[in-house]
Amino acid sequence: MVAPLKVGIAGLGTVGADVVRLIERQGRVLSARCGRAIRVTAVTARSKAKKRDLDLAGVTWAKGPIELAADPDIDCFVELMGGAGEPALSAIETALKAGKSVVTANKALIAKHGLRLAKAAEQHGGALNFEAAVGAAIPIVKTLREGLAGTAIDRVYGILNGTCNYILTRMEQEGLSFAECLEDAQRLGYAEADPSFDVDGHDTAQKLAILASLAFGTRVAQAAVYVEGISSITPEDLRAAADLGYRVKLLGVAMRTAKGIEQRVHPTMVPKSSSIAQVMGVTNAVTIDGDGIPPITLVGPGAGGAATASAVVADIADVARGIRAAPFGRPVESLEATAKAPMERHEGGYYIRLIARNHAGTVATIATHLAEQKISIESIVQRQPDGIAIGAAKGRNTPVPVILITYATQEDAVHRALQAVQRDKVISGRPQVIRIEKN
Ligand SMILES: NC(=O)c1ccc[n+]([C@@H]2O[C@H](COP(=O)([O-])OP(=O)(O)OC[C@H]3O[C@@H](n4cnc5c(N)ncnc54)[C@H](OP(=O)(O)O)[C@@H]3O)[C@@H](O)[C@H]2O)c1
Repeated sequence: MVAPLKVGIAGLGTVGADVVRLIERQGRVLSARCGRAIRVTAVTARSKAKKRDLDLAGVTWAKGPIELAADPDIDCFVELMGGAGEPALSAIETALKAGKSVVTANKALIAKHGLRLAKAAEQHGGALNFEAAVGAAIPIVKTLREGLAGTAIDRVYGILNGTCNYILTRMEQEGLSFAECLEDAQRLGYAEADPSFDVDGHDTAQKLAILASLAFGTRVAQAAVYVEGISSITPEDLRAAADLGYRVKLLGVAMRTAKGIEQRVHPTMVPKSSSIAQVMGVTNAVTIDGDGIPPITLVGPGAGGAATASAVVADIADVARGIRAAPFGRPVESLEATAKAPMERHEGGYYIRLIARNHAGTVATIATHLAEQKISIESIVQRQPDGIAIGAAKGRNTPVPVILITYATQEDAVHRALQAVQRDKVISGRPQVIRIEKN
């Protein structure tokens, strides 16, 4: 009879409490699947007195996370406190140095200190599992690390933040502004009181940095991720995208190019027919382009207590079974430095929306500046400004939205062309530029 795996959990919030419940509810199935029982034997959180609706009878309350991590009576330390620094970092290091295995859902910590922790796990023989850190219940870490171990990966991209996808979905379906949808997301609990981490793209960037490392065998490099959020997207952009056969999503994209590895987070136009374009609301999705195989798309809940607990418990089950994969898919020593592809050299199609002054020759001026930069235009549409009925007489100075789609071109060429257009004063305001990602 194999002894039960004794688990200590630091953090009993949204995720931690659901992990305790899931281990309890799935006890028999987990025992059967792992060949041994999994028991939560000790826990800790900030406040012992807080009401948690959890049955913790017989479970030891540790003085703090470091004490719990060092407890010789636990085999597996589960970190569910969050935060890119202390006490999570020291607690995990303490557990690893004591030869224990660690499970965490902490993307901020793994994106920042993942290599240091992976090294400690390697040195001391424990596992470091973080499936829940990216895409919650979507098994994307395991898929990249183990399922596709034999496949060269060219690109991995996805919708990794449910708050942003919820906002963009509402904006598209109901024609509402970014601010209105953000307010609703906050009211419904999908967005934090300070939503900037989500809507400015930083949450996606942390997850993307982890995926890029797993996909390309490179060291996690959060600083190498180019980040742009969704706050500048307007309902007009979404309408124009729809007319042109696209949807706008906040994507995290990591891809191998001749110039290095691109890691970028930005609003992206994706063909309406693509798998990723079908993903609406708070749902997450990740697509993997592997050499010689059609794209694989995984879709599912990217947040929430139950969804995240599902991945945490799967990671604990691996520890119980004695499965120990290298945290980033290969020994830390053999992870390569990330050769960062500069964003100015990014190549792709672009959507450009300009508010053109209604003068004769304006469109010709715009086209000339694009041609000077060798940018080919796939389509150009002069849209009737909102509020003016088709056929109504327009004043000479009424601004007219002009929407262009370019063929693949280099990012710096687009910037140079638009600077020239602005210098000629034929447009008002700042041009809106959205990159297009082909599937
Ligand atoms: N929520 C999600 O949907 C989700 C999805 C994917 C990943 N994650 C990740 O999962 C982790 C936990 O998230 P969560 O949403 O469950 O957070 P949460 O609801 O805020 O819970 C955090 C828990 O950690 C405890 N804690 C915080 N600081 C502590 C400290 N210094 N010492 C001891 N305990 C401490 C808190 O104690 P008290 O209860 O006493 O305050 C609380 O129980 C984070 O890394 C997060 O990024 C969350």
